[in-house]
Amino acid sequence: MLPVGVLVSVKRVVAAVLVSKAADATLLRRRYAMALLFEKRDHIAILTLNRPDALNAIDPETAGELIQAADRVMEEEDIWVGILTGAGEKAFCAGADVKKYIAPSAGKTISQLHEQYLTGKDFRVVLPRIWKPMVCAVNGYALGGGLELALSCDIRVAAEHARFGLPEVNLGIIPGAGGTQRLARVVGVGRALEMILTARHVPAAEALAMGLVSRVVAKEKLMETALEVAGAIASKGPVATRYAKEAVIKGFEMPLDQALLLENMLSTMLRDTADMKEGSKAFAEKRPPQFLGK
Ligand code: CAA
Repeated sequence: MLPVGVLVSVKRVVAAVLVSKAADATLLRRRYAMALLFEKRDHIAILTLNRPDALNAIDPETAGELIQAADRVMEEEDIWVGILTGAGEKAFCAGADVKKYIAPSAGKTISQLHEQYLTGKDFRVVLPRIWKPMVCAVNGYALGGGLELALSCDIRVAAEHARFGLPEVNLGIIPGAGGTQRLARVVGVGRALEMILTARHVPAAEALAMGLVSRVVAKEKLMETALEVAGAIASKGPVATRYAKEAVIKGFEMPLDQALLLENMLSTMLRDTADMKEGSKAFAEKRPPQFLGK
């Protein structure tokens, strides 16, 4: 029989091992079962929807992690550009999870759902709030809420096998994450109506022809291309790229005279930034600029 002191020590060691095992399990869950992966490379944040078995459909957990990830992109000063993509090769995102999100309305009442939208605690409203440039790497199906996420980004690059569509009418609903508005603004009212009313899947080549994406590449080259685009943006003055985004997106909704005024205000504000001084100095000194985002 072991003395009491030794028994207590053994119990402590066993307890410590169990606690550390539990901590490991939590870490493992965190690392491998996240519905959204978040990675930072230099000044680029890469957000990967991570439910490949469900074609990266957005269930309540993914929606929550997407909201948190969007907050990180906005809040972390060293992030200058974001990339949104999906895990696996089949789909970028097949939309809201029809079984867990759409059918039972995620267990929420109609007024709670509307409140969630109004207060910004809804995956459908978070991406458009990000004032930093966002690139979408479309690695397969972009359907329903998936296409709407892509439309909430500023630049879309697609793999050759990508397919785009707003199939909500198949379910007796309409696109509710900006699809009826943003698609029409990007491809025109006629093409948007055809896609929305017929729920047709548009192949990548056609999406390129209608301006829905700006580049189509082989699937092996997709992330390389997205990183190239994001890297090009990250090498510029970060305040300038944010103001340029704001001028284009907000200005597009305004009468021309007001939009030009907005452009003038943003452009004048940039005349007093450290980055503007550094950009001109670097040009004169024939060297690459070292921007700080200030
Ligand atoms: N929600 C939940 N699960 C989905 C899903 C979705 N949106 N899309 C695909 N899945 C699941 C399938 O149920 C299937 O899971 P199981 O293996 O457990 O059965 C798995 O992903 C693979 O899908 P399929 O077997 O259907 O694959 P496929 O190659 O035969 O078809 C597809 C691919 C054409 C994309 C088809 O899956 C499909 O049509 N998906 C639904 C797309 C859709 O309707 N999206 C709109 C959702 S509503 C919305 O997004 C509203 C909004 O505005 C936010």
